[in-house]
Amino acid sequence: MNKRDFIKNSFIVGAGLISGINSANNQNSEILLSYNNEWEKVRNDYELPTDFINLENGYYCIQPKPILQAYQQNINFVNKQGSYYMRTVQFENKKKSVIALAELAGCAEEELIITRNTTEALNLIISGYKWQVGDEAIFAEQDYGAMQDMFKQVVARNGIKNVVVSIPNQPKNDEEIVDIYKQAITSKTKLLMVSHVINITGQVLPIKKIVEMAHQHNVKVLVDGAHAFAHIQFNIKELGCDYYGTSLHKWLSCPLGAGFLFVKKELINSVWPLFAEHESVKNTDIAYLNHTGTIPVHTDLTIIDAIKYYKLIGIKNKHERLLFLRNYWLNKIKDNPNIIINSPIDDNRACAIANVGVVGLNPIELAKNLFEKFKIYTVAIDTKTVKGVRITPNVYTTTNELDLLVNALNQIAKK
Ligand SMILES: Cc1ncc(COP(=O)(O)O)c(C=O)c1O
Repeated sequence: MNKRDFIKNSFIVGAGLISGINSANNQNSEILLSYNNEWEKVRNDYELPTDFINLENGYYCIQPKPILQAYQQNINFVNKQGSYYMRTVQFENKKKSVIALAELAGCAEEELIITRNTTEALNLIISGYKWQVGDEAIFAEQDYGAMQDMFKQVVARNGIKNVVVSIPNQPKNDEEIVDIYKQAITSKTKLLMVSHVINITGQVLPIKKIVEMAHQHNVKVLVDGAHAFAHIQFNIKELGCDYYGTSLHKWLSCPLGAGFLFVKKELINSVWPLFAEHESVKNTDIAYLNHTGTIPVHTDLTIIDAIKYYKLIGIKNKHERLLFLRNYWLNKIKDNPNIIINSPIDDNRACAIANVGVVGLNPIELAKNLFEKFKIYTVAIDTKTVKGVRITPNVYTTTNELDLLVNALNQIAKK
């Protein structure tokens, strides 16, 4: 897109973002550094706190001003129209958001529904799957707690068995991971849940290979894509998975309360809906899984604006920028013997998120130190296999801020 087209097509009012970003696709870090200036303009799209540095964008990503303004306009619009809006074009407009999401995710619009978040999307499958007593499910101890809790509830409700695997923080290769899942499969295994990105370490898992292996054993695969969508580049159809859930308030920077669930067309009737839809809707139509009751429809409307903003930055640019930021700080501390790296180093397994610990310091103390002494906000992760702080920059993060992080970690690790 050239500058004229950008201005013509732009929905952005008063934004700092310019079109040059789209032409800077080189992976070479020097070139990325040289166009740091362009990212400064992206940064200007954000209203950021001035009293601390937010390196906890893993919870959710705040909206840049252009999306926030669009959201506010959508709230005003729906509020003005009231029930008239809800009874007329509400569903037509929601469909437009579904079409835009399906195009971005690489699936058919008949296979995708908008949910409130990943939790709703994945629980719909975990709790709604047509389980038989004795069926088995597989997931990892590194998966998100709420999903593990739902699987535990399904044990109590439906008499299934859970098989829990463990993924190393720094695997040797893809085969090692595929094999861990393979070893857990038995003739009774029905569903395997796997994180696209492990939230506590940022490790990107080889989903396509895991799916291919699972399908050879007639096991369906549910992917927890909470952190992957609009962050790393991928296409759902290429992954080949059966179900995929994500949150749009994370890396797409949508307003809070948006996500989606992808279900392969032929599997729509493999699950019960969370809320019952009218009997006139066939159980082969994805609408059967999407009775929601009255919801904040202005959030659904803003999905379109968030997608426009994401495309304006450039899907590849964003992915590369986030990898560059992660590598920038990680490379500077990786040889410090008092710092423990809990994430893979290899770019193919990496994204914006990484986790580090300090020898002899518990994660809560480390996070507290970073915030109280250095005004850097992170989150402590203290699990059996991961002890450290999760560091998550976003596109607006500067290398100066990351230098402050490096300095803070080195100082803390000296003691
Ligand atoms: C891997 C993973 N799955 C699911 C979720 C739940 O996301 P949400 O709270 O948006 O439903 C999260 C939240 O951080 C997550 O990290």
